[in-house]
Amino acid sequence: MGAPGVGKGTQAELLHRRLRACHLSTGDVFRAAGSQPDCDPSPAMKAALAHMRRGELVPDSTVWEMVRERSNCLHCRGGFILDGFPRTVTQAESLQRWMEHEYLSLTAVVNYELPFEEIVARLEGRRTCENCKAVYHITERPPKVSGQCDCGGKLFRREDDRPESIKVRLEAYQRSTAPLIEFYMGLGLLLHVSAAGSPEDIFESTFAQLEARRVREVARKVLVAQEDRQ
Ligand code: AP5
Ligand code: MG
Repeated sequence: MGAPGVGKGTQAELLHRRLRACHLSTGDVFRAAGSQPDCDPSPAMKAALAHMRRGELVPDSTVWEMVRERSNCLHCRGGFILDGFPRTVTQAESLQRWMEHEYLSLTAVVNYELPFEEIVARLEGRRTCENCKAVYHITERPPKVSGQCDCGGKLFRREDDRPESIKVRLEAYQRSTAPLIEFYMGLGLLLHVSAAGSPEDIFESTFAQLEARRVREVARKVLVAQEDRQ
């Protein structure tokens, strides 16, 4: 979790590399659907893409349908990382019910925090590769050759990184997504991580917090098992 541009995708990619867990980004899935030239999107997908361009949230029912279509990801042997989903309390409740039905559970919910000005600077400088989808920043994480991905692909600026869409996205985050902090705090799953510093340093503190949580969880299960035996 975290505001648009805080670095969720960057961290999810580093976690995916370390853990080999499946990385499911709802934003990436919508963008991929919008960039298929030969494919006529369904009316629901057309509406979703229009919401996205304006920086608004896509309706919960469309998001949920798309996540359900990719539910195999949540059964990946290496685990899974959800990036940009859930984004409303309704989505979080649907996910919770579905996971209980599938005997799955979340290990943790990482909430990245960064001052507003730095978030805007990250969004304004972001460039994405149209070929491999790698994410750069023009000053903080530049490619070897300006305007070109290290894979050779062309870099583009996301349509929703225009100032007017950024404003709408930040408002949507405050209104609809920030309430999830309380939701996941109530479930005892929330980990707060500062998103200031280099991506590698943020990754190390994320990983350390996840590991500490995993160790505590194993210890708790051992204790419960011992108590059951007595
Ligand atoms: P989505 O693609 O999820 O966008 P977002 O949440 O707005 O977040 P971003 O992807 O813009 O930022 P990020 O946090 O991943 O940052 P990044 O790592 O790229 O969603 C897009 C849209 O799809 C939504 O607006 C909505 O319309 C729709 N949507 C998607 N999911 C939905 C849902 N569940 N419900 C409803 N609608 C949904 O980093 C940003 C930049 O900063 C990059 O340039 C990066 O290189 C740089 N950077 C990263 N880390 C650092 C660092 N530590 N230091 C310096 N620079 C850094
Ligand atoms: Mg992202």
